[in-house]
Amino acid sequence: MNNTLNYIFSRRSVRKYQDKEVSEEMLHDLLEAAMAAPSAVAKDPWRFIVIRKRENIDKLAAVLPHGKMLLQATAALVVCGDINNAHDQQESYMLQDLSAAVENILLAANTLGLGTCWLGVHPRQERMNDIRELFSLPNNIIPMCGIAVGWPTDRPEPRTRFNGEYVHKETW
Ligand SMILES: Cc1cc2nc3c(=O)[nH]c(=O)nc-3n(C[C@H](O)[C@H](O)[C@H](O)COP(=O)(O)O)c2cc1C
Repeated sequence: MNNTLNYIFSRRSVRKYQDKEVSEEMLHDLLEAAMAAPSAVAKDPWRFIVIRKRENIDKLAAVLPHGKMLLQATAALVVCGDINNAHDQQESYMLQDLSAAVENILLAANTLGLGTCWLGVHPRQERMNDIRELFSLPNNIIPMCGIAVGWPTDRPEPRTRFNGEYVHKETW
């Protein structure tokens, strides 16, 4: 691992958090990082729901079967896309833009000392419907994932998952 890239290798999914609030300012920083991501034709179709109230974080936990760490997290984001604003109104372009934004959030949070965990929603229809109902999403807004955010109790070790077998030189 190249140490200069440690901010990438030290980003790990964090699933245990301290009982300590995440400030509005830090969440703003995460969203500013998100919106610096590349986006097809700079359409910026990403939309975010910022959740800091305990009862609402718990409601999100209740509809995400693999999101129980949210019960400890002191903030959460729901990352959505506006299909009307995606390049060519294509869901694939929208999801690619959103994924780039999510990775920026995870890397920015790690750099600021926060811990995060990406929580899958799209394409699980039941989770998408539950979130649509829970947060009163308009029809053009498609939920892609949740992100648990908090101050980590401890940090998983940086690691590489490099696998040379996945790499083809010059041609397959
Ligand atoms: C699309 C997607 C969905 C994910 N959903 C969940 C989830 O529901 N719950 C969870 O604990 N982790 C989830 N993760 C995190 C992965 O489990 C994690 O990134 C992977 O095990 C690699 O570990 P690392 O993030 O520590 O490098 C998800 C990651 C992605 C990219």
